[in-house]
Amino acid sequence: MPKKVSTSKKYYDEMLKNIKEHRSNSGVVGLGYVGLPLSIELVAAGFNVTGFDISQNKVKLLNSGKSDIDDISDKEVKHAIETGRFRATDDFKLVSKMDTISICVPTPLSKTKDPDVSYILNALNSIKPYIKKGTLVVLESTTYPGTTEDLILPILQENGMKVGEDFFLAFSPERVDPGNKKYTTKNTPRVVGGITPECTMVAKTFYEQTIADTHAVSSTRAAEMVKLLENTFRSVNIGLVNEVALMCDRLKLDVWEIIDAAASKPFGFMPFYPGPGLGGHCIPIDPHYLSWKLKSLNYYARFIELAGDINSHMPEYVVDRVSSLLNNRFAKAINKSSILTLGVAYKRDIKDMRESPALDVIKLLEDKGAKVYYNDPFVSKFTWNGTIHKSTSLTPDLIKKVDLVVILTDHTQYDYPMIVENAKAIFDSRNATKSVKKHRNKIELL
Ligand SMILES: NC(=O)c1ccc[n+]([C@@H]2O[C@H](COP(=O)([O-])OP(=O)(O)OC[C@H]3O[C@@H](n4cnc5c(N)ncnc54)[C@H](O)[C@@H]3O)[C@@H](O)[C@H]2O)c1
Repeated sequence: MPKKVSTSKKYYDEMLKNIKEHRSNSGVVGLGYVGLPLSIELVAAGFNVTGFDISQNKVKLLNSGKSDIDDISDKEVKHAIETGRFRATDDFKLVSKMDTISICVPTPLSKTKDPDVSYILNALNSIKPYIKKGTLVVLESTTYPGTTEDLILPILQENGMKVGEDFFLAFSPERVDPGNKKYTTKNTPRVVGGITPECTMVAKTFYEQTIADTHAVSSTRAAEMVKLLENTFRSVNIGLVNEVALMCDRLKLDVWEIIDAAASKPFGFMPFYPGPGLGGHCIPIDPHYLSWKLKSLNYYARFIELAGDINSHMPEYVVDRVSSLLNNRFAKAINKSSILTLGVAYKRDIKDMRESPALDVIKLLEDKGAKVYYNDPFVSKFTWNGTIHKSTSLTPDLIKKVDLVVILTDHTQYDYPMIVENAKAIFDSRNATKSVKKHRNKIELL
């Protein structure tokens, strides 16, 4: 008599086999900066991938072979579609055909800076009616420790399925760094933590098919905390170096020179650089998920709050320095001055403007009465402060015409010698002009 597989092991063994043989159907929910690169990697590894998104425009765009995010080209999306193994859809009934579901929806902050997990809950409500037995569900969205176990698990168990036996649930934080050419979804190691050891093993096996290296931790809570440590580490170090920039200003020292010299130490120091503030969907937001959670445990996360305070005031500091520069060099006020700001994306060589400090700087300058022009080769227009802003062409005539050029994003394609040559004065918040030798007297660094 063949040995009967116990129900508790049945789906586990089946899933491991299907995943290893790349026969499992992968669903990715949310096709943005995180979900689209993941989908492309899964297709490249040979999986059938269905991308689910509530944005019909995005679904149409992807199915027509076009990408709307920086790190994925149209060619890559077109190729994925042509393999016949990738399609985008807003029809969540197709979840019933999926063996794995990766949830990659936004996790912003509410107006009161509390975690907004409504996107996760909406995604769950859309997929829940269609999840079949044996499915692996992985949350990739950054969130506070406890979300997967306390919020997601009870919802998925409502239809009577047992975790670790009938379905598998894990958290694996995406670590993508938009615009980073060296480290991508594929070659950045993955941290994985499941609700049960079986969940961890199924999720780990899933990621091992596409990603260079995986690192299992003891629980979903631990995996959630890992991501928050990584992003808090960045926020706190950027906060520290921004404060060092404020100190250097008072000490009449060049902060960039100090950092470069400190970075010559081959151990025990890692350079971070100051700037006009934090941007993107991660560093300005994620640490607040952690401090919010800790408040509920009666603990005040001091480093996080202090770094957040320093970083969020950097746009005001930039505007103060602009004000002094105009006053000291030209006996002018910001009011009625013409200012050309370069870059609105939150960092170099991408078009992502989410939480970009450049937007705050532009608003503050406009509120003080400046005529602000902007140029960004990656962002042709945007709406902010109630008005539509359009990128102006970066001509020598415009640069000559304005009272001041303010560099807010250090895009590599800018012709910095030409900008310095033609400008009356420059406030450079990124040290983007560091290799320009001529007319250094026109440049003031953050
Ligand atoms: N952008 C980054 O650099 C980065 C890096 C690591 C982790 N993360 C985290 O990953 C998560 C996703 O971030 P992102 O940058 O990819 O966001 P994004 O805004 O680029 O993409 C999210 C996508 O989800 C879709 N969506 C929203 N609600 C949905 C729903 N109910 N069902 C299906 N689709 C839905 C949106 O239409 C959008 O296409 C966030 O938690 C973020 O913190 C982001």
